[in-house]
Amino acid sequence: MSTSTSSNSESLREPAPAPVPETRFSAQAHAELDEIAGHYPERKAACLPALWIAQREYGGSLTSAAIQETANALGLSYAEVEGVATFYTMYNTVPRGRHHLEVCTCLSCAVNGAYDIVHKLEHELGIGIGETTPDGEFTLSEAECLDFCGAATIMQVGDKYFGNLTTENIMGLIDELRASESYTPAKLADSIVKILQPGSSITGGGSYTPESLELPAGPML
Ligand code: FES
Repeated sequence: MSTSTSSNSESLREPAPAPVPETRFSAQAHAELDEIAGHYPERKAACLPALWIAQREYGGSLTSAAIQETANALGLSYAEVEGVATFYTMYNTVPRGRHHLEVCTCLSCAVNGAYDIVHKLEHELGIGIGETTPDGEFTLSEAECLDFCGAATIMQVGDKYFGNLTTENIMGLIDELRASESYTPAKLADSIVKILQPGSSITGGGSYTPESLELPAGPML
């Protein structure tokens, strides 16, 4: 008698096929990676910056070919690089919208209306959590505590934080983001690669103090 179940069948399915090899790293990308990796005791320790380079070179998301090319460039296995890429949420292992809306729904933000904001965004943008608008502008996600509880509700968009969000001001921010034509995930990756270059004096584009949040910040808790 067969003892297989649907979940067993699922777990026994064939592994995904190996990615079709691609080499999209430019000469500049290799030079940047060599420069960064030279400051680590081992080349493979440069996995995080290498993934930012890959995210830029592959147009904003880490396809299986991007992960394979990164692994090849560092002398790592595909599984090692994939494990890193899927651990950190700022790497796009699936194509995401031009703006990744990550709404914190942890305790302080939740009691300050984070889910009302999430539901407003779902209704106005016509997408659910984890989905992207048909025009490719916005992807909506929930985020764990973004460590800025005093200005709840907080939302991260790329390398910026926005605070004191409410159901009244959230759509104004969405309109501003939609109008900011210069921003793409690949450009964000490029700006981070520049910051990571040894000796760079560039600092991040994020706003991480209550005074400099994009919206007026309330009293810290
Ligand atoms: S609970 Fe939202 S930033 Fe901490």
